[in-house]
Amino acid sequence: MGKLVVCDHPLIQHKLTFIRDMQTNTKDFRELVDEVATLMAYEITREVPLESIKVQTPVCEAEAKVISGRMLGLIPILRAGLGMLDGVLKLLPAAKVGHVGLFRDPQTLQPVEYYVKLPTDVQERELIVIDPMLATGGSAIAAIDVLKKRGCTQIKMMNLIAAPEGVQAVQEAHPDVDIYVAALDERLDEQGYIVPGLGDAGDRLYGTK
Ligand code: URA
Repeated sequence: MGKLVVCDHPLIQHKLTFIRDMQTNTKDFRELVDEVATLMAYEITREVPLESIKVQTPVCEAEAKVISGRMLGLIPILRAGLGMLDGVLKLLPAAKVGHVGLFRDPQTLQPVEYYVKLPTDVQERELIVIDPMLATGGSAIAAIDVLKKRGCTQIKMMNLIAAPEGVQAVQEAHPDVDIYVAALDERLDEQGYIVPGLGDAGDRLYGTK
C-alpha cells in the first residue's frame, strides 16, 4: 500500500487556513497556493537519493552531496493542477512538465482524456502528479493510468487537500503510489465537494465564479 504523508509543517498549515477562507481573494489565493506548493515540494523530495562528489572549496577539496537518481517530471492535471506547478518548479527548475487534461463524461461519469502531452522520456523519470483536490480519486486514478500505460513506474501524488474516499480509491487502484497532502479532510458532500475543503479550486484560482 502506498503511504499517505500529511505535510504538517506549521507554515503549510498556516497558509492552508487562508486558502480555505472564502474571504481570501483570487490574487491572494493564487499566491498562497503557489507558496504551499513550494513548501510541499520540499517535503516530497525529502527522500531523493544523494551521491558524493568532490568540490574544491576556497579552503580545500571536500566531499559533498548532490542529488542523484532519476530525473523528475511534474504532471499537473488540468486545470487546477496548474495553480501548484510554478510553486513546485521554483524548487525543481530542471523538472520537465507533462500535462494531462480529463473531463467527466456526463453519461458514464467516467474520466475521459482530452489532452495528454508528456515529455518524450517520461517513463525514465520519477513523476509527481499535481492536483489541489483529491476528492473521489477518479481524475487522479485516470491520470496515473495514462502514465502507467506509457510505461511510467515511479509516481507520487501531490494534493493540497484530500478526502478519505479519494485516498482510499487511489491506494486501492494504485498501491505503489505515495500520496502527499497538506490536509486530510472529513468527507465528500453529495456534490463531490471536499468538506470542509476550500470550494472549487479551479474557480478560486482563476476567478471563474
Ligand atoms: N474539486 C474541487 O475543486 N473542490 C472539491 O472540493 C472537490 C473537487
